[in-house]
Amino acid sequence: MRVGVLTGGGDCPGLNAVIRAVVRRGVGEYGYDFVGFRDGWRGPLENVTSELGIPQVRGILPRGGTILGSSRTNPFKVEGGVEKITANLNANGVDALIAIGGEDTLGVATQLANLGVNVVGIPKTIDNDLSGTDFTFGFDTAVNIATEAIDRLHTTAESHHRVLVVEVMGRHAGWIALHSGIAGGANIILIPEQPFDIEKVCKLVEQRFELQYAPIIVVAEGAVPAEGSMATASAEIDAFGHPRLGGIGDRLAGEIERRTGKESRAVVLGHTQRGGTPTAFDRWLATRFGLHAIAAVHDGDFGKMVALRGTEIVRVDLIEGTGTLKTVDPERYSEAEVLFG
Ligand code: F6P
Repeated sequence: MRVGVLTGGGDCPGLNAVIRAVVRRGVGEYGYDFVGFRDGWRGPLENVTSELGIPQVRGILPRGGTILGSSRTNPFKVEGGVEKITANLNANGVDALIAIGGEDTLGVATQLANLGVNVVGIPKTIDNDLSGTDFTFGFDTAVNIATEAIDRLHTTAESHHRVLVVEVMGRHAGWIALHSGIAGGANIILIPEQPFDIEKVCKLVEQRFELQYAPIIVVAEGAVPAEGSMATASAEIDAFGHPRLGGIGDRLAGEIERRTGKESRAVVLGHTQRGGTPTAFDRWLATRFGLHAIAAVHDGDFGKMVALRGTEIVRVDLIEGTGTLKTVDPERYSEAEVLFG
């Protein structure tokens, strides 16, 4: 059996841990061989491959990024894309494909599975917004990076009696903002699921200063003011139709300063949340996902995605992971609201 592996979409810590686990079990237990496809769906689309075996996965467990590279290539946006992919899989003697990605990469995997390609998906995203799984790997690392930043920002905000607005990733879902905001003791957390009232935000800011503390506001990049529309830094749209976000932190800091007269600055954590070594939790989850995904290949259980349910790794239909996004529900948000101000 020859198995292709690819990593698509935004990279995230833990991708290499997955690749290692897939290859280690695939070679060691099942005697399979592997081919790596470069840069997500661009690899099978343009037949760009790399060697993948035990020597290539040695020492990569703690390394961030992905040894296979990544891209946001959407083969369904390319003329004859699907035919090219199936032809290149055949040309490489690939019997099964493991696709590691988020909603877009696994969305393509879902469609290919429907067309008869033997594919197993592994959910990854720092945003934690894939349905069907309790957590995706990469999320814990991103939350830890954001929490550490918030911890550091408290002391400098207090020294200068400033408002500090921390913009974190999350275009449709506020999981990173919510978890890091709670863990870091943010005074206000703003998420895409709950359009915010700028007046209320300013009141909470003033209230915080009255208590002789400086406020820290955590805002997800996709958060929007109740009366306005989504802020986009540029009109650029990727191959999956997503706008490139960014800029809400700055806009918010400017508006708070104008309305309250308090000096306000924005810090955009950006891609630091996706870089570097994964936490122990993400290494553990990524490794288990990899071990179970190659077992699904061995069982011929295609069209499935591995998922975490409680502490168990289960297999669910790919469509369960990609059909709808997992967003923060209002009850979960209101738990955090108790601590605002
Ligand atoms: O991986 C998902 C994500 O982290 C989103 O939260 C963010 O909008 C996007 O990636 C940005 O990624 P890139 O800059 O690579 O397009």
